[in-house]
Amino acid sequence: MNNDQRLMARALEWARRGTGFTHPNPMVGCVIARGGKIVGEGYHHAYGRDHAEVDALKKAGTRARGATLYVNLEPCAHWGRTPPCMIAVVGAGIRRVVAAMQDPHPNVAGRGFAFFKQHGVKVTREVLEKEARELNRAFMTRVKEHRPYVILKAAISLDGKVATARGESRWITCPQARREGHLLRARVDAIATGVGTVLEDNPALTAHGAGRNPKRIIFDSALRIPLNARVLDKAAPTWILTTARASGSKRRALERKGIPVYLVAKGAKGQVSLTEAARVLAREGVTHMLVEAGGVLNAAFLEAGLVDEVLWFIAPKIIGGQNAKTAVEGNGIAELAKAWSIQGLRVETVGPDLMIRGKVER
Ligand SMILES: NC(=O)c1ccc[n+]([C@@H]2O[C@H](COP(=O)([O-])OP(=O)(O)OC[C@H]3O[C@@H](n4cnc5c(N)ncnc54)[C@H](OP(=O)(O)O)[C@@H]3O)[C@@H](O)[C@H]2O)c1
Repeated sequence: MNNDQRLMARALEWARRGTGFTHPNPMVGCVIARGGKIVGEGYHHAYGRDHAEVDALKKAGTRARGATLYVNLEPCAHWGRTPPCMIAVVGAGIRRVVAAMQDPHPNVAGRGFAFFKQHGVKVTREVLEKEARELNRAFMTRVKEHRPYVILKAAISLDGKVATARGESRWITCPQARREGHLLRARVDAIATGVGTVLEDNPALTAHGAGRNPKRIIFDSALRIPLNARVLDKAAPTWILTTARASGSKRRALERKGIPVYLVAKGAKGQVSLTEAARVLAREGVTHMLVEAGGVLNAAFLEAGLVDEVLWFIAPKIIGGQNAKTAVEGNGIAELAKAWSIQGLRVETVGPDLMIRGKVER
């Protein structure tokens, strides 16, 4: 690793500290160095707080003059909740900016780099770019594809069941695996499920003390959700996505409880169109979404091409029963060549269970 890569790796480390708090913003870290010696460093702590560059510049003070600034994303060029970072960087007397990647946001998209060149600040780009893209893959998906980045999570038995034939599902996996699941909930900004799971399990869908609770999103085409469902409590915000099939009175009853109900176009089967729902959610800032649903909604997400990653917890148990539900229902694929292929598999053991994670090939 050369000096630029070493300091960029450190900026990426700082960026990771914002995990779970920066949505809908990206995770950004910044290191300021003179002659290889660090004089200031910082990160974007949370949405609405200082951007990483400003955080690091405040720490560097006058030592920023003539220094090099390392940042994992192009400094912003627009007035948002805070002034543009590019102005702060030039104003502090930074001589050189090293960035891992260009900001894909249409309001930035190279304008920050152009501003630096106009003001005599040298720019070095694409240092540890692959790592930077991986870190902010959810932000990039929302900005470029106008949909949230989706992780599909399931807890299953060795024979792929999510419940017994009688519907008993608690608990298939071990407490450590469930804890991992709760930690993941604290790192995303939304957790989604179908009304089927709400009706059968009445889950809380919180991080259970493992960190911040994500927003809860329920797919419920006809508003079958009971008004006393646990997901309608005050533990975290809950949004419901429905269709024109829902009754106006149920919708008003939910809105009186402070639950936003989004009316979304119907898909082919008269249910919430997931493609349309993804667009609505991205527009509302939902960036990184965990889907923890039953096999019906899981299959629909896969069929709509909206799953980016899968996370499967597999317990060493066999449940059996042809009527016991599985993690992915729907019609399935007809030819093996059309199976969803999972790449870059990572396998770990969590207590007696397996945790398997990988990306859906696109
Ligand atoms: N082990 C695990 O990881 C895990 C996780 C969650 C749930 N589960 C288990 O899963 C079981 C429930 O399974 P489920 O499949 O009935 O529930 P689900 O997948 O959570 O919900 C299915 C419902 O979602 C609604 N929906 C809205 N838009 C949809 C769309 N575009 N496509 C498909 N469905 C849409 C449909 O009802 P409407 O047509 O009325 O909208 C549908 O019946 C429970 O036994 C639960 O324990 C297991």
